[in-house]
Amino acid sequence: KKVGIIGCPFSGGQPKEGVDEGPIKMIEFGLIEQLEEMGWAVEFDGHHKFTSLKPSEDPNIGKAKRPRYVSRVTKAVAESVESHLKKGHLALTLGGDHSLALGTVSGTFAAYPDACLVWIDAHADINTPESTESGNLHGCPVSFLLDVNDMLISQEMTESFSWLKPRLRPDRIVYIGLRDVDPPEKEILKKYGIKAFSMTHVDKYGIGKVVEMALDAVNPDRDRPIHLSFDVDALDPTVAPSTGTPVRGGLTFREGHYICESINETGLLVSVDIMEVNPTLEDEVSVFETVTVGCSLVRCCLGETLL
Ligand code: ARG
Ligand code: MN
Ligand code: MN
Ligand code: MN
Repeated sequence: KKVGIIGCPFSGGQPKEGVDEGPIKMIEFGLIEQLEEMGWAVEFDGHHKFTSLKPSEDPNIGKAKRPRYVSRVTKAVAESVESHLKKGHLALTLGGDHSLALGTVSGTFAAYPDACLVWIDAHADINTPESTESGNLHGCPVSFLLDVNDMLISQEMTESFSWLKPRLRPDRIVYIGLRDVDPPEKEILKKYGIKAFSMTHVDKYGIGKVVEMALDAVNPDRDRPIHLSFDVDALDPTVAPSTGTPVRGGLTFREGHYICESINETGLLVSVDIMEVNPTLEDEVSVFETVTVGCSLVRCCLGETLL
């Protein structure tokens, strides 16, 4: 068993500096050694160097900021993920902001067209370049990825992302942890019948039942490869404080880890993202807690158990 780590120091999908240091800190904290200790062979060729991809001019498209930079970076990420998967590796992408999922999910579906996507987040990240209030593309990746014929994405934006093939059917994505969904995002979720478990569902049913219902929705026969995209802001800010868009009322430490443990247990996990760790926000203790929780989520995804 081999894992390919794709280090993605990128912050261009949102305005706060520092989220590009997330992957660097997780590796510095010893993630590679931890995975080797668990018996994994690790392939890591160093962090991506994205700054050379930054265009000299990158005017907004609609409200969306830095579209060309995000496109170039996520294209490179898609290629890395796809090539690791085609070598039979588990792909582990460390972010960086969640616009990187444009690349990771594209790479996974290129290698495994019948995959499903489990998205753990406080946010739905399904704004379109028109519906976004903030203009930050980390709030938009899912709308670009969806394979539907009437998604409102402008010609100009589609051309900027000409490499991206939308391959994600609305019945192949499920959310857990939502609690800060913009009104237009709610409309999109409803329109396409996308399954989503908010924190209310976690309260009502408990995390065990929610994960089971989530997998039943996208993977009823438990035969599809799984891509897990984990935004650490899904966790409560008391658990993962160093992130750019924290929202109160999130997953507990154990609920977050339980999701990873139970997805590991399916034996179907092929690709994992750990996103939005920003080691420049909050105090030293907060940074330590957030970086270490990122590493321990990864270890649970890769098979660490309590007993
Ligand atoms: N919905 C808000 C927006 O569109 C927040 C998105 C936060 N996304 C994230 N990946 N942290 O800007
Ligand atoms: Mn590599
Ligand atoms: Mn989020
Ligand atoms: Mn997100």
